[in-house]
Amino acid sequence: MENSKIITGCSTHTKLSHLAALEGMVLLKNEDRLLPLKRGAKVSLFGKGSVAYVKGGGGSGDVFCAYVHNVYDGFLQKQAEGKVTVNAGLAEFYNSYIEGEKAAGRPVMGINVRTEPLPPDGLIEDAARESEVAVITISRFSTEGTDRALDGDYYLSDEEKQLVAKVTAAFEKTVLVLNVGAVTDSEYFKDNERIQSVLLAWQAGMEGGMAIADILCGDAVPSGKLVDTFAKNFEDYPSSQGLFDDELAVRYHDDIYVGYRYFETVPGGKDRVNYPFGFGLSYTSFEISGLCMEETDGVISAKLKVTNTGVYRGKQVVQLYFSAPQGVLGKPKLQLAAFAKTKELMPMESEELYLKLKAEDMASYDDLGKIQKSAYILEKGDYSFYIGSSVRDTEKAYFVYTVEEDRVVKQLTERLAPNRLEKRMLADGSFEALPQRKAVYGYGRNKAIEVTCPIENPSFKDVGEKLSLEEFVAAFTTEELCEFMGGSPNVGVSNTLCFSGLERLGVASVPTADGPAGLRLDAHHGIPTTAWPCATLLACSWNEALVEQVGAAGAAELKENGLKVWLTPAINIHRTPLCGRNFEYFSEDPFVAGKMAAAKVKGIQSQGVACSVKHFAANNIELNRIKGDSVVSERALREIYLKGFEICVKEADPWTIMTSYNLINGIHTSESYDLITGILRGEWGFGGMVTTDWGIKNNPVNEVKAGNDMKMHVGYPEELMEAIEKGELSRADLEACALRILNVYKRLA
Ligand code: BGC
Repeated sequence: MENSKIITGCSTHTKLSHLAALEGMVLLKNEDRLLPLKRGAKVSLFGKGSVAYVKGGGGSGDVFCAYVHNVYDGFLQKQAEGKVTVNAGLAEFYNSYIEGEKAAGRPVMGINVRTEPLPPDGLIEDAARESEVAVITISRFSTEGTDRALDGDYYLSDEEKQLVAKVTAAFEKTVLVLNVGAVTDSEYFKDNERIQSVLLAWQAGMEGGMAIADILCGDAVPSGKLVDTFAKNFEDYPSSQGLFDDELAVRYHDDIYVGYRYFETVPGGKDRVNYPFGFGLSYTSFEISGLCMEETDGVISAKLKVTNTGVYRGKQVVQLYFSAPQGVLGKPKLQLAAFAKTKELMPMESEELYLKLKAEDMASYDDLGKIQKSAYILEKGDYSFYIGSSVRDTEKAYFVYTVEEDRVVKQLTERLAPNRLEKRMLADGSFEALPQRKAVYGYGRNKAIEVTCPIENPSFKDVGEKLSLEEFVAAFTTEELCEFMGGSPNVGVSNTLCFSGLERLGVASVPTADGPAGLRLDAHHGIPTTAWPCATLLACSWNEALVEQVGAAGAAELKENGLKVWLTPAINIHRTPLCGRNFEYFSEDPFVAGKMAAAKVKGIQSQGVACSVKHFAANNIELNRIKGDSVVSERALREIYLKGFEICVKEADPWTIMTSYNLINGIHTSESYDLITGILRGEWGFGGMVTTDWGIKNNPVNEVKAGNDMKMHVGYPEELMEAIEKGELSRADLEACALRILNVYKRLA
């Protein structure tokens, strides 16, 4: 019996993981209403992934959990409940294949593992005689440090193609289940009449197989919607041009035209889409009515009614897009500005939804000074609004927001401008040449603490009552400050090391833990935790309250295990389907990413656990991740690659942020004063601490000067001391970092 006092991996959490899995799976295709399967249907499960189901990716996004329910487990439960009959011969075939591979020491799933065993023809024929529906599971695994391949990963492998061909030839009815962590090819099933239904099940955590069976058998109604565009071919993504050509630099020529911002805008783009952003089918149908929009004091609001017009219960996601005038700066045709999801509606039941946005959030950043340099501008003209259930399936609102004259909504300063980006895409798909400039990135100066510590033998616990934080920091020797700026060994069950403490002054070290899919503990501790669905699935739920709940539950597991900082959420942009870490990230759209991140952070920090939002920023590919430079315009940074972080910081006040491995425009993010002090703290008002990503050796002196407070996983105190002695670094710089670090330590439960 479960010990009801232990919450790590408890049944309440695994149930929540199951619920989350159900909400983020996306039904892409359902011809002839094949799904949900009829009661009593006889089903044959194909694909090694139906047994060797992939719960999530590797690295920081991996989790050691008590069990993983695969698709076969899910169907066996349905069989036990008398809902379907499952072909046993196929399971035997796949199980013995998997056992054989294991015995031979060969991995069944993993990066570069492309094998897909083909059941003998006789077995397929028998299965087709015995059962009327085939369910083929295609699984993918990826991990940090490497990117995905095209053949056998984005596209099907030859063996998988053969499997699909043989099964669809033998069966009249086929359902495809995509157990993947990122966008894959959809061209082979989109118009394939032999594959009637496709469930994009993502990597759905430890309960994934049960959730798949629930949806396929009609015990749950799908309500997930895409947060990425599924194009016809890989080459249709503008980022695919020259993606891996230069080991040292990725040039973001596509600029702000990422994902649907490209496909919906650039001539011909729409035709290159198989499944648009925001798309997802249900078993039931919905109608939006009574749309009413208005503007008051710069806030645009929409009120509408959603009615379930079908025969199943279900939830619907309503999306509000705006269309800005092309103006001088050029704009994506549509941009997501708000969304909301209904509760579960019974047939004929309705719910009123309210959505809102600030008019100024529709502004564009003028990095070249075409109207006004370094300012967010609402260009003059009419802003129109589209509301619906995907970027394509919308209705234009009667309401229009008119701007009479160009309006500067925020004047900023040039930051992180590129020095070697020759061109960038415009809304018509052509490119504009960019001015070539020399990069000049400076550092600011910090003010020294002017007080002294008024008591003898101070301790951190005196802060508040007897001491101000400044007085406490004044008690650190300079050597101690240098030591304090880096990581320290693991304590307890942590395996990603600690932010340093200082015994002499009663500051305990702070243990950290990964990651986006749940609390990642080493298996040898014997503490299984809850494996949640991957981040992309969570985003496809479009359910902020649910993601907040997942955050709170996961954080409670950290707290119970004495861990204080959760290295999640990861909110980089899905710029290319091939990024090996896409499963850890939310979306191609910064608005969705920012909203989901904010929800997760609110949940986590409600438990007194800090999160470390990562990887700040533009870490959108794993290729040469420590030396790779993201060469990108300031506008694309601000409107796409930083925007999700901005939303999260402003809405949820995360206590820590992790800089990234990559460089931006020639400078390591952890050394970038523009990024950390200029934008994050200066412009957005971030009040927490900043840590490096783990194990990189950039210049620790520049990092401190940039405002990157903590060097993980180890610091370089000697180098900092040497810089102090040479006058390259001041004690004030160290004090500023220490104050920010201790401010966070004070908030930890
Ligand atoms: C990853 C981070 C992770 C850290 C600690 C790094 O390799 O990039 O996302 O949190 O390791 O495991």
